[in-house]
Amino acid sequence: MADSKDAHDTIDALLGENRTFAPSEAFRSQAVVSDPGIYETANADIEAFWAEQAKMLDWYKPWDTVLEWDAPFAKWFNGGQLNVSYNCLDRHVLAGRGDRVAYHWEGEPGDQQTITYKQLLDDVCRAANALSELGVKRGDRVAIYMPMIPELPVAMLACTRIGAPHTVVFGGFSSEALSDRINDAQAKVVITADGGFRRGAPSGLKINVDKALETTSTVEHVLVAKRTGQDVAWEEGRDIWWNDLVDKQSTEFEPARMESEDMLYLLYTSGTTAKPKGIVHTTAGYLLGVTATHKWVFDIKDEDVYWAAADIGWVTGHSYIVFAPLANCTTSVIYEGTPDHPNWERWWEIIERYKVTILYCAPTAIRAHMKQGPEYAEKHDLSSLRLLGSVGEPINPEAWMWYHEHIGKGQTPIVDTWWQTETGMIMISPLPGVTTTKPGSATFPLPGIDADVVDSHGDSVPLGQGGYLVIKKPWPAMLRGIYGDPERFKATYWSRYPGLYFPGDGCKRDEDGYYWLLGRVDDVMNVSGHRLSTTEIESALVANDVVAEAAVVGQPDSLTGEAIFAFVILKAGIEATPELGQELRQFVANKIGPIARPKTVMFTPDLPKTRSGKIMRRLLRDIASGRTIGDTTTLADAGIVESIREASLSSKQDD
Ligand code: WT7
Repeated sequence: MADSKDAHDTIDALLGENRTFAPSEAFRSQAVVSDPGIYETANADIEAFWAEQAKMLDWYKPWDTVLEWDAPFAKWFNGGQLNVSYNCLDRHVLAGRGDRVAYHWEGEPGDQQTITYKQLLDDVCRAANALSELGVKRGDRVAIYMPMIPELPVAMLACTRIGAPHTVVFGGFSSEALSDRINDAQAKVVITADGGFRRGAPSGLKINVDKALETTSTVEHVLVAKRTGQDVAWEEGRDIWWNDLVDKQSTEFEPARMESEDMLYLLYTSGTTAKPKGIVHTTAGYLLGVTATHKWVFDIKDEDVYWAAADIGWVTGHSYIVFAPLANCTTSVIYEGTPDHPNWERWWEIIERYKVTILYCAPTAIRAHMKQGPEYAEKHDLSSLRLLGSVGEPINPEAWMWYHEHIGKGQTPIVDTWWQTETGMIMISPLPGVTTTKPGSATFPLPGIDADVVDSHGDSVPLGQGGYLVIKKPWPAMLRGIYGDPERFKATYWSRYPGLYFPGDGCKRDEDGYYWLLGRVDDVMNVSGHRLSTTEIESALVANDVVAEAAVVGQPDSLTGEAIFAFVILKAGIEATPELGQELRQFVANKIGPIARPKTVMFTPDLPKTRSGKIMRRLLRDIASGRTIGDTTTLADAGIVESIREASLSSKQDD
């Protein structure tokens, strides 16, 4: 509790969870990691541990030092040389595994491609030759703005083969967002497509590139893959069709011998201020971090068919659709479109069709399926699934249980993985053959990760309490900076607690030491001097049978400082009534205590989300406090804000 001002402020821990799920003996006995001793080995000597792991990569030249740490600047495996595309492709083909499937690709309209490692290597070499012909050299930046088609991972890998850092801009972003990123990165070439398919309709990409390039000056060429066949404007000399240039190229391209700390890619993430941050990831540490964690957390075996149902435009796609699965010679699924096209059975059809064994997705998708009901999944044979994953937001315990029961059929372990664009790799997660899970908890930091939960002074809080998550030691895939802005890098991540990395998330540890992520620190509410996380109250609401999804924000209140305002989406077929609103308020009070009782419950058909599926609490705060709506440019559907505003039915506290 945080009653006095200069006390060591923490975050109240309210929600309790007693359900536990231990790994079955059947799972444990076959798991990649089944010995809990790995934590001790790693933490005894983190550098020795990562150096040992680094044997899973192929090096042209071994490193001189494992870690050089001049906080907040890290160098991992300095002096070493390697190439990412070689590690993802060549070494598997050279080992006689060229016929293994790298990707089962499925377009939204239903077209399919099966791409082997050998084919992917040939395609990547052709694309690397094509980019060279366009003048791309080691160190040049390339912007990639594409739908989820096979040319996207090919383009990324071709850049890594040349040693030209790429910056992938999510295809749903506007031309303005694209030109900002091109300008910040000073990109020389843009790789795009005519358009992509989303919810059954072609949407234009090239048209946005044309617009973006009106306000950029560095781009010499635009390489355009043909996907939808829609009409596009054309600038002779600048624009080239992918097929015209790439298809005729040789399938040989000598990979560049990159230094460990050479920049691999830039990925922009939005901050609280308008200017996006170009997160810098480098070569060796990043590839090692993602490859190792992919193998451990997803228990990757040769027989697996692994599907990360995310967009490659986000870090999840970079790390766990492209680089790690390929480095591990995994067979993956890539699906171009949305889960509801042509209907809510699409995902379950895909799992049945390719016999997917591992599914990794976001809580927002799980809650969307939950809202529709389990009937869609029930029509399909999901028995191939043996492991489920979650990423992107805290997963509410009841959404976890729904995933467990209806998708995992009560059998498969669930790994709730906490990490960020900045961390590059999974940081806090169960090891499915070792960890006893609790629904809603990301459990423990992975081996080699030194984390803590601290109060406002940076002192570790006792078990059972909430506070602020910090990472205490460097890790291989950590961001190396914000592109061109070392001061902002220091100020954003390293100034709150000197020497410690501050991710910006609240967290509590329960009596057993389990980590429970509590959402962004900026979203923490202060109600009568109690710091309350939005996550726990949302989870309490979702625990009610009628609720599919909830978003909680603080609303200015003259009496209590802030009051709790809850937006609630009901499950299909449930009627919103004032009585139900009162019932839900009481339900929360009963479940986690009267302090957490929402003052207002507002029923809404939908919630404003970022394009990566995170609830935009900033906008909801504006609505709750009757302020004018802020910037909505990262909204999934701007109409949602209006519909929420118009939603008339809200239940207020009557005392
Ligand atoms: C933020 C990072 C990591 C890839 C996708 C998002 C939240 C992420 C979890 C989780 C609770 C989570 C955090 C984090 N987050 N995973 N398992 N439990 N919160 O990457 O866009 O950089 O967002 O997402 O708040 O800081 P990102």
